[in-house]
Amino acid sequence: MKKARKKTVAANGGSLWPLRFTLNGKKVSAKVQPTQTLLDFLRIEMGLTGTKGACLEGECGSCYVLVDGRPMNSCLMLAPQAQDRTVTTIEGFAHNKKLDVIQQKFVECGAVQCGYCTPGLIVAAKALLTENPHPTREEFLVGMEGNICRCTGYNKILRACELAADEMGLKKK
Ligand code: FES
Ligand code: FES
Repeated sequence: MKKARKKTVAANGGSLWPLRFTLNGKKVSAKVQPTQTLLDFLRIEMGLTGTKGACLEGECGSCYVLVDGRPMNSCLMLAPQAQDRTVTTIEGFAHNKKLDVIQQKFVECGAVQCGYCTPGLIVAAKALLTENPHPTREEFLVGMEGNICRCTGYNKILRACELAADEMGLKKK
């Protein structure tokens, strides 16, 4: 993870916002433009380019990150709104170089083509499975209706999520 760039004066001459929050398990302090989106802050200032921006208007879900465990469109959030909160990006999913089970199942099922939608889908699936460990296919569809994929036709994505749910359920037994 890149260190946040140190700036004290915004490019427009205004003052910068002192932001403190937890990002992928680490405390982060930075000065941010009050109008900078969380998406841009993560990608540009923190170098976390796994989170994607596509529509930039809350329609596609490619920019999803977990904020206090809930999926949020980082293109619609301002960076200062992350103050004192816990943000997890796709880079925070793997541990000790081992992919999260949802990531593993996406790979195994071939649920990734261009990959642009994938981080947002995995974030949405993680939030859904944390809240509801045994979703029906309909509940998956409702839980992930904020995500658009232009490539896969969704069947492999759903299969990957269902297999991840099965594996996560087995681990809990
Ligand atoms: S880029 Fe945020 S919802 Fe599409
Ligand atoms: S894999 Fe290309 S948009 Fe989903």
